[in-house]
Amino acid sequence: MRSILIANAKGGVGKTTAAATLAAAFAASGARVALADADRQRSALRWLKLRPAGAAPVEALDWSRAKEIGAAPKGLDWLVIDAPGALKGERAETLAAEAHHVVTPVGGSVFDLRATAKFLSALEEIKRIRKGRATVHLLANRIRRGKAQAALERFFDDAGRAPAAWISDRAAYVDLAGQGLSVFDRRTKTAQALQAEWAPLLSALGAAPT
Ligand SMILES: Nc1ncnc2c1ncn2[C@@H]1O[C@H](COP(=O)(O)OP(=O)(O)OP(=O)(O)O)[C@@H](O)[C@H]1O
Ligand SMILES: [Mg+2]
Repeated sequence: MRSILIANAKGGVGKTTAAATLAAAFAASGARVALADADRQRSALRWLKLRPAGAAPVEALDWSRAKEIGAAPKGLDWLVIDAPGALKGERAETLAAEAHHVVTPVGGSVFDLRATAKFLSALEEIKRIRKGRATVHLLANRIRRGKAQAALERFFDDAGRAPAAWISDRAAYVDLAGQGLSVFDRRTKTAQALQAEWAPLLSALGAAPT
């Protein structure tokens, strides 16, 4: 089993969206996947509740209360963990201890970028990450072409790291989430174009192409 922690110190940057999208992508490829919700808001669990019976199955794990971290069923191919908004300290260590990959969504505002830079340095303090046993991937999310993108590109240049993928700002993410679905549950041309934006991240995670 490979596990992926979706985390950023900043709220509202697209953690749950990324967690749901990745889980649905793995499920669409026929893999056995669980989505663990470690956030008290329980948004990932709500998304799973809305998921239609016919959609590719994603198992639910409730880690939303501090003590219930770590137990995952045997035989999973992928475990995706949706972290709480202000992840730090012991909780960050505990969750990172589960992970082979950390995916950090980054939004466009300057405040987001500052918080993320701090978060990335904090991540480097975690032994498992420092030792290279878990890999950190940045995900540029809610991208609108133009000024905002230019600011993000500067941020990534300064941080000396390129994002694994650039995800457009599209109403489809909000609409699909409201139905327990993701772009990987649809076969329309639009959905396929949006799936293609996730492909470089999926490949960095070592997922088979969907
Ligand atoms: N690429 C996108 N395009 C359009 N809307 C998006 C995109 N990504 C996320 N959103 C929307 O932005 C809002 C916040 O996203 P999401 O809930 O995934 O963030 P979060 O980091 O999990 O937030 P929280 O810190 O509250 O848990 C949601 O309404 C979501 O549907
Ligand atoms: Mg969330």
